[in-house]
Amino acid sequence: MMHSEELIRYETYQETAEWLLSRTKHRPKVAIICGSGLGTLAEALANQETFKYTDIPNFPQSTVQGHAGQLIFGELKGKTCVCMQGRFHMFEGYPLAKVTFPVRVFRLLGVEVLIVTNAAGSIADGYNTGDIMIIKDHINIPGFAGQHPLCGPNDERFGSRFPCLSDAYDRSLGKLALDISREIDHSDCIHEGVYCMVGGPSFETIAEARLLHKLGADAVGMSTVPEVTVARHCGLRVFGLSLITNKVTKEYDCNEAVDHEAVLSIGKMRARVVEGLVTELVARMELNMGC
Ligand code: HPA
Repeated sequence: MMHSEELIRYETYQETAEWLLSRTKHRPKVAIICGSGLGTLAEALANQETFKYTDIPNFPQSTVQGHAGQLIFGELKGKTCVCMQGRFHMFEGYPLAKVTFPVRVFRLLGVEVLIVTNAAGSIADGYNTGDIMIIKDHINIPGFAGQHPLCGPNDERFGSRFPCLSDAYDRSLGKLALDISREIDHSDCIHEGVYCMVGGPSFETIAEARLLHKLGADAVGMSTVPEVTVARHCGLRVFGLSLITNKVTKEYDCNEAVDHEAVLSIGKMRARVVEGLVTELVARMELNMGC
C-alpha cells in the first residue's frame, strides 16, 4: 500500500483535468461529492455527460457498495456542476493523496465551490435518525495522528504550506442553507454542528463515542475532512452537510446496533430532502465567474 506522503505530481492532476476538459462541453463552477446513499443528487442534473472512474486517467476506483463510481457533469438550476457519485475513503486503503485527488482536479477544471455530503452517526443528544446537520466545523482525528492529506512536500501552485482552517466551512453558504431549510419547513430536523472524522471501518465503541462527545463532536463519519482540507488549501469555498443515518450509542445498556445497510436505507429515505436543500443552495449561491 502507498502512504499518504507519496507525491502525486502537478502534471498528473493536469493530465486528468485536460482529459476531462477535452471530452465535456461543461465548465463546472460547483463540485458536489455525494455521500453513501446520496448519489441520486446527481440524477437531477440537466444535459448530463458521464465518465466512469475506470475510464478517467489517474482516477482512483471506488470499492464501497452504494457508491456508483462515476463523474457526472451537467446543469443544476442553471449552474454548471460536476458530481462525484462515489467517493474514496481512507479505510479502503487509499493514501489520502488519492482520496483527495478529484478535489485538485476540480480546482484545475475551474471549480469555485465544493459541496460535500456524507452519512454520519449522531453524537449530539438532540439529533435523530434522518436529521440533517450543516457542518460548521470539523475535528480531524486521523490528522492528529499524522494521517493528513497535506503531509509531504507542498506544491505552492495549489496553496500555502500552512493553510488556515479556522474558516473551513463558508459561513455565508451555511447561513443560506439554514435560511432555505427554514423555508422548506424542515427546520426542526436541521442542525448546525461539528463533524468528526474517524478512520473506520469499524463503528465506534461506547468509550470512543463518549470521548468524541466530550471533544465537542456532534456527528461522526469516515470521510469528508480530507477533501475539505485539500479544497481549502487550493482556495475553494466549502459547504458540507451530514445526513444522520444512526445514533451512536453512548450507553452500555442500549441494544441499538449500527450496520452499513441501515446507513444506506436512511440515505435512500431522506435523499430527496438532501437533494432539495442542495439544489436550492446551488440555485441561490453567488459565484465569482458567473455560471
Ligand atoms: N460512525 C462512523 N461513521 C458513520 C456512522 C457512525 O456511526 N454512521 C455513518 N457513518
